[in-house]
Amino acid sequence: MSSQTIIMAFLLLCLLAVLVSAFVFLMFSLAFFLSSRLERGAPFVPSNKKKIKNMLALLGVLQGIRAVDLGSGDGRLVVALARAGAQAHGYERNPILVFLARSRIWFAGLAEKAFIHHGSFWGADLSSFDVVVVYGISGIMRELEEKLERELQPGARIVSNTFPFPSWQPKREAEKVYLYERPPHRRAQLK
Ligand SMILES: C[S@@+](CC[C@H](N)C(=O)[O-])C[C@H]1O[C@@H](n2cnc3c(N)ncnc32)[C@H](O)[C@@H]1O
Repeated sequence: MSSQTIIMAFLLLCLLAVLVSAFVFLMFSLAFFLSSRLERGAPFVPSNKKKIKNMLALLGVLQGIRAVDLGSGDGRLVVALARAGAQAHGYERNPILVFLARSRIWFAGLAEKAFIHHGSFWGADLSSFDVVVVYGISGIMRELEEKLERELQPGARIVSNTFPFPSWQPKREAEKVYLYERPPHRRAQLK
């Protein structure tokens, strides 16, 4: 075999490897895009330290309350809520983030106080939570508002990072972090 043939074969193999990698990458991106559309939620963008500080400051004392993060990402907010005294839960659809969040909880020694549920928060019953935190995206806020109105108990509090709810009036705001209290069942009363 001449050296020219070997070089050609090597280049062809490289080209094949690039094409296969590009195909796999495209398929993963497509699957992720489609699942994002189907499960109606934000992509993973973690809350920064300042936002987490503002969220906790708006919520005040969390000792003994049940809190949930809708789309818990790598678990940083769930850990912060548990450290502040809450029994903290997170719902997360991405299995890699579920693994990272559970590891974070384990390393923080909070396994008795913080829990990550793998799955969509849309199917979860939120009625037992006193506090809901969410870092969503504008397109889901109306539907989420309706779900929270249906399921949360009077007095439950909701904190939204960056995206306000379309019809609720925030009780307080700190640098694009909004605090709400679940209003009465307006939609139920209309029926
Ligand atoms: C903007 S990130 C916020 C992560 C975390 N809450 C924080 O503040 O650092 C949104 C997260 O929600 C997750 N997510 C989006 N839609 C979801 C759904 N329907 N059910 C569960 N998780 C969802 C995404 O995978 C992503 O990790």
